Amino acid sequence: MNRYMLPDLPYDFSALEPHISGKVMQLHHGKHHAVYVKNANSVLDQLDEARQKDDFARLAALERALAFNLSGHILHSIFWRNLTPKGGETPEGDLHTAIQKDFGGFDRFRKQLTEVAATIMGSGWAAMVWEPIGKRLLITQIYDHQSNLAQAGVPLMVIDAWEHAYYLQYENRKTEFFEAVWNLWNWKDISARYAAAIQLKLDLGKAA
Ligand SMILES: [Fe+2]
Repeated sequence: MNRYMLPDLPYDFSALEPHISGKVMQLHHGKHHAVYVKNANSVLDQLDEARQKDDFARLAALERALAFNLSGHILHSIFWRNLTPKGGETPEGDLHTAIQKDFGGFDRFRKQLTEVAATIMGSGWAAMVWEPIGKRLLITQIYDHQSNLAQAGVPLMVIDAWEHAYYLQYENRKTEFFEAVWNLWNWKDISARYAAAIQLKLDLGKAA
């Protein structure tokens, strides 16, 4: 069976300083993300065992655990690659055009995404997703790693708004963290995700 794996960061732990400290990155990647990977694999093993024993008593709990841990793994993997030490500024080309069209300009887009991160109650993420039915970019507020989502949206750009993402460095000043990540966006990575996502075709007839 394919196992999920913790991906290496595409830069050193301290490369995103001063915006994100090396210590935060080390703990976030090596402890938090690693646990989601471990747990996602463990749930797959438990599902395998349940099928073999024909014992589905814990199925609902296992499905919930799979959604939580696998989504955590996917979002963190995207987040690391969304960031770069030489990031920031604004996107160019087709992504720039799409942001203009769907959000009325980059500044409005930036404000909405930051506000969505700042207004999460509890743990969650702010995400820009490609919505393939309406063929538009949307901003989504995700609870935990997996709730409050419209199905089929493809995450392109995500902000981790869990306390473990910032508390050690920013304490309760989480808005400072959400502003700081705008110095780190890897628009090349986000644009490549956009270019790939717009190829997705769901056959739903005239659904939009
Ligand atoms: Fe996280």
